[in-house]
Amino acid sequence: MAFLADSLARVKPSATIAVTNKARELKAAGKDVIGLGAGEPDFDTPQHIKDAAKAAIDAGQTKYTAVDGIPELKQAICEKFARENGLTYTPSQITVSTGGKQVLYNALMATLNPGDEVLIPAPYWVSYPDMVLLAGGEPVAIDTGIETNFKITPAQLEAAITPKTKWLIFNSPSNPSGAGYTEAELKALTDVLMKHPHVWVMTDDMYEHIVYPPFVFCSPAQVEPGLYDRTLTCNGVSKAYAMTGWRIGYAGGPEELIKAMAKIQSQSTSNPCSISQYAALAALTGPQDYIDESRVAFQRRRDLVVSALNQCEGIECPEPEGAFYVYPSVAGCMGKTAPSGKVLETDEDFVTELLETEGVAVVHGSAFGAGPCFRASYATSDESLTEACNRIRRFCGALK
Ligand SMILES: Cc1ncc(COP(=O)(O)O)c(C=O)c1O
Repeated sequence: MAFLADSLARVKPSATIAVTNKARELKAAGKDVIGLGAGEPDFDTPQHIKDAAKAAIDAGQTKYTAVDGIPELKQAICEKFARENGLTYTPSQITVSTGGKQVLYNALMATLNPGDEVLIPAPYWVSYPDMVLLAGGEPVAIDTGIETNFKITPAQLEAAITPKTKWLIFNSPSNPSGAGYTEAELKALTDVLMKHPHVWVMTDDMYEHIVYPPFVFCSPAQVEPGLYDRTLTCNGVSKAYAMTGWRIGYAGGPEELIKAMAKIQSQSTSNPCSISQYAALAALTGPQDYIDESRVAFQRRRDLVVSALNQCEGIECPEPEGAFYVYPSVAGCMGKTAPSGKVLETDEDFVTELLETEGVAVVHGSAFGAGPCFRASYATSDESLTEACNRIRRFCGALK
């Protein structure tokens, strides 16, 4: 009898972590490596948020809290949804978890039965399909390409829906492509969903605040109020406030679903860290200057990277509307030979050779379900980005 659970065999290890480990090994061996694999802002958490956490410790807020969040934080989240998204939720419709990741996981665990299908536009954040598999469901990718800027069309959505479809996981701006759906594009998708009342929407709005004008962020239940009763609006403080390590995510949705998610959380991790909850409260209710400051820096870096990558032979880099990733196609490099003699047949070959030859770590697109592409994070300094792009240009120029 096997000791490990059969369900584990359905899950892949994270490709993003694999690349980070490989880059770390090369660095340890003395190689000059620039890592563009990170999925987190390179800025520090704003001071007033750190101070709120220290004050929470001093005030003795160091004990168990209500399983799915302290009342003050739930209230602040309701106010955030009303203020920024035009969505009305009451505290009983709010859940707080250990990162956005646990919110999504709880929702899938609370709702999926064997055979239930979950639609996931590709390229997708690596965890979605594996979380669906762990929860016993079937991930169904909807493929996109560079010709639609990695966005699905209403016709594709319509064609992917079956009687077994339970959820659409929607992520705009997207990790990994940075693609954001305009209000008109999203409305065209929600019109399709209105025809299929059995399909629920899990919208992952994690990158809501990292968007570049003229793009304006919008969320499905905001664009189509008719979807409110079957939408889970997920968000968190990780990316918006440079708080990845604090582990606070949250969601608003129908009370019955929120209660079911709390049940899962109560028998697994219980409350998210009490101190982090007070820090998240300060993030949502305090000064919001960090959001604009970081957006300006990220936009400058996006422009730098998109322009530099489009000068590389064989690379085509669309301009993303948000997040801090670019997702260029390397179709023009496929079939060419790297300086090592290796013929590049896949995007994985491309990123492996790039790392070994030039010491630039990016993640291959096939890990996110759409290639031949790679994902590069520009959440690092302008100097590192300029140097990384120079190396990528040299690498592409040397392909034969
Ligand atoms: C699209 C997306 N959703 C959710 C998460 C998870 O966020 P958290 O760190 O709050 O768990 C990430 C983190 O990389 C992400 O990129």
